[in-house]
Amino acid sequence: MNDFNRELLLESKQLERCPFPIPSGWFFVDFSDSLKPGELRNVVLFDQEWVLFRTESGQPGMTDPYCPHLGAHMGHGGSVVGENLRCPFHHWEYNREGWCKNIPYAKVTPPITKKQAILRALPMVDKYGMMWAWFHPECEVPSWELPYIPELEDETGYTGSRRGSWTADTCIQEIAENGVDVAHLKFLHGAPIIPPVSATYDGPRMKLDIGQGYIVGDVYGPGLNVMRFTKDGVTATMISYTQPVTLEKSRMNMSFRHKDYAEGTKEAMIAKHLVDHMIGAAEGEESAGFESVDFIVWNNKKYRPKPLLCDGDGPILQFRKWFKQFYPGMAE
Ligand code: FES
Ligand SMILES: [Fe+2]
Repeated sequence: MNDFNRELLLESKQLERCPFPIPSGWFFVDFSDSLKPGELRNVVLFDQEWVLFRTESGQPGMTDPYCPHLGAHMGHGGSVVGENLRCPFHHWEYNREGWCKNIPYAKVTPPITKKQAILRALPMVDKYGMMWAWFHPECEVPSWELPYIPELEDETGYTGSRRGSWTADTCIQEIAENGVDVAHLKFLHGAPIIPPVSATYDGPRMKLDIGQGYIVGDVYGPGLNVMRFTKDGVTATMISYTQPVTLEKSRMNMSFRHKDYAEGTKEAMIAKHLVDHMIGAAEGEESAGFESVDFIVWNNKKYRPKPLLCDGDGPILQFRKWFKQFYPGMAE
């Protein structure tokens, strides 16, 4: 009994549920058509509140709510004036990059306003009919761009309006880890076998192949995931765009798309079946979708930094190593 490891037995008391900061990356904010030019509203994302607005010319903006002047919350009584966000308290104005553009009563503006942004603002784009914000814990500019996704961007050729949104009481990394955890597909979801998986990593991008071509996944940082399921030559696509709401709360959003097969054809039926399968409600299938099973695990688990793994597990440690790049400045 010399190598009896007491620490191992006591370790779970030290574990935390979500021992991570908010990772860097591009994240979905909301659908573009939910915010008209001139509108503003408050949103909670990345573990804080933000003012989300659209300028008169149609550009999206997202800034810290607290005015650098005397700290008024610009999401309560503030307004969009031309290309700027105007604070209600003394009408200082900021553009969507966070630069102070106008102090209506100042003869001399503070010198720093000429040199840099004074209000934290997140780089934003409208893409795929959605607003996306670049979050970086140390306010760095984007280091990569959102990819072209034909299923969401091509004017014609694709169809599918099914989408959903679910909230989980855990951090975004724990949800993302599900993608490489192939053993749980059999035991939690009831898949007939544990499918083989291969993952390759390239900067912020990870490519997954699950079941030898059955699911091919492209992962772009922590906030965008495109999984293409192929059966009998028909491909259906699940696009998921999870948001880190707080350190312990994430919102998982998904859209389901496929080629615009003629109604009543075999291809259209297979595509529908694939989408049903992804959601976990396909006819004649025993397996359970994430909605009924993953959340029970996510909402209650703790993160094990030193998991005990076996040979049948997916590439969980490689995934974690890859994910670490999204926590710049985080101590080992
Ligand atoms: S606090 Fe915003 S302008 Fe004074
Ligand atoms: Fe799962």
